[in-house]
Amino acid sequence: MVHLSHNFSLKDNNTFGIPALAKHYLTVDSSDDIISFFRENPLVMNENRLFLGAGSNILFVSDFNGLVIHPEISGICLISENEDNVIIEAGAGEVWDHFVAFCVENGWHGVENLSLIPGNIGAVPVQNIGAYGIEAESVILEVKGIDLNTLENKSFTKDECNFSYRNSIFKEKLKEQFLVTSVMFVLSKHPNFQLKYGALEAEVNKFGEINLLNVRKAVIAIRESKLPDPLKVGNAGSFFKNPIVSNAAAVELKKRYPELPVYPVGSGQVKIAAGWLIEKAGWKGKSVGNTAVHDKQALVIINTGGATGKEILNLSEMIVADVLQKFNVQLEREVQVNGD
Ligand code: EPU
Repeated sequence: MVHLSHNFSLKDNNTFGIPALAKHYLTVDSSDDIISFFRENPLVMNENRLFLGAGSNILFVSDFNGLVIHPEISGICLISENEDNVIIEAGAGEVWDHFVAFCVENGWHGVENLSLIPGNIGAVPVQNIGAYGIEAESVILEVKGIDLNTLENKSFTKDECNFSYRNSIFKEKLKEQFLVTSVMFVLSKHPNFQLKYGALEAEVNKFGEINLLNVRKAVIAIRESKLPDPLKVGNAGSFFKNPIVSNAAAVELKKRYPELPVYPVGSGQVKIAAGWLIEKAGWKGKSVGNTAVHDKQALVIINTGGATGKEILNLSEMIVADVLQKFNVQLEREVQVNGD
């Protein structure tokens, strides 16, 4: 089924709660219907496109003058299993954390560290979501979808997805061209817990033995202690990425700030904690108009009530300029800014 609306308010479709309007808003619940819709309405091929899942990583700074496509393709299916692994296919419209809960309940390992990340399955490979030492690429086998330029079904093996930190081919070369309809995941029946990140292991121990459910509970507890619930406070998680700099640049910074958290990422580079830089620059908990830097995690910008997208963008730009001036480190946004 497809449903097309016009001048549609996106206020409930983005976790910042920005009341932007979409010129056209299309919901679809099957791949075939998407293809038929585009064949029957060739003029929509000329519209600007935006793929929107749960809207948990986007900031609208103006109305969207084009076609928003919101996939509602459902289904979480066991495709195959052997004594070691299961292969599961999940529709783009499924809520990511429902999928994580389902895997944990069934004793399948691999996504427990990614508990409570907001968003739908369709965005998972696009953004290569990650948390607590795990990225989605470690469990993705294949990504299926439609090339909207040719109206062909296509699938990408994991290697073809060009995954990197919060990035993939779907965010670069195929941006707003390849619409993800489902993702195939491979999960393990055997434990291989990754608990080295921060205080995760200590948090798991508070719940008892190390098992899937306790890891999920621990991740949820840590997230809830630091990250605001988007249903209560408008936000999109980390607004910035953790910058990746050369070892040499990190050594220089460490001379001035020995306590700066850094994580080696290979090829002579390290990732540095943007949240630390922003806090050190004095922004944590600061409010400007209807926006603020979250008081428990400086990477998060919040809408304190009635903020416009531009206000949030302005605050983020003040932070970028200040961090550059103070530390000579260029922050990049993780959140996708839409509009002008
Ligand atoms: N830190 C500070 N002050 C802050 C925030 C962080 O000093 O205000 C320090 C922490 O003390 C810690 C380090 O920075 O030493 C890292 O902090 P944290 O563990 O909170 O993680 P992060 O690097 O700030 C990243 C992801 C999060 C993910 C967490 C946990 C990015 C951009 N963000 O944040 O992802 O939940 O790690 O794995 O990579 C998201 O993408 O929206 C998101 C929330």
